[in-house]
Amino acid sequence: MRNIVILISGRGSNMQVIAQRAQQQKWACRIAAVISSRADAEGLAFAASHQIPTAVVASKDYPTRDAFDAALQTTIDGFSPDLIVLAGFMRILTARFVDHYRDRMLNIHPSLLPSFPGLSTHRQALAAGVKLHGATVHFVTTELDHGPIVAQAAVPVLDSDTEQSLAERVLQQEHLIYPLAVRWFIDGRLSLLDGLVRLAPESS
Ligand code: GAR
Repeated sequence: MRNIVILISGRGSNMQVIAQRAQQQKWACRIAAVISSRADAEGLAFAASHQIPTAVVASKDYPTRDAFDAALQTTIDGFSPDLIVLAGFMRILTARFVDHYRDRMLNIHPSLLPSFPGLSTHRQALAAGVKLHGATVHFVTTELDHGPIVAQAAVPVLDSDTEQSLAERVLQQEHLIYPLAVRWFIDGRLSLLDGLVRLAPESS
């Protein structure tokens, strides 16, 4: 049984769909913990009510990024993780932390990477006038929002869109591709070849 640790900072809707799919579809894994960088993250209540262990490593309690990441790593490793899932985890991670979880840490980003890394991706998309936008699941590397891409989903950008309407349309797609990507990892179907992700066929 593989252990997944999910990191959140807020609402945690991606965490919720992953936990629900894992249970409904009887994935060969357990959600070993949900860890938040904020004590007031809404997603913590969902996890606790679904008997998922929770922990808070509050970034505001640590004077430096190094100190925060060291405490976070100690907490995560207490759950013996096979996979770390960043689900709306709004912290930039140090290279040392990222290297520790190399090839076993996934992130979802609300744009079609490599377009629009960083924050306010929906605003960036509207300002650029793109007609397609979307979401990307990728392995985390030391370069922010640039790791090998596992899955993407695209949505149209409408002339009538606001940041919020676009965010909602993208989020619906996030909720489809993130559980799918996590399951591929759990099933051992993902590999990296020359920095690109390869998906092995489903075994029958
Ligand atoms: C999601 O849209 C996710 O893609 C984004 O934060 C939101 C979290 O929602 N992540 C980032 O922007 C990471 N840079 P959720 O807490 O409901 O899953």
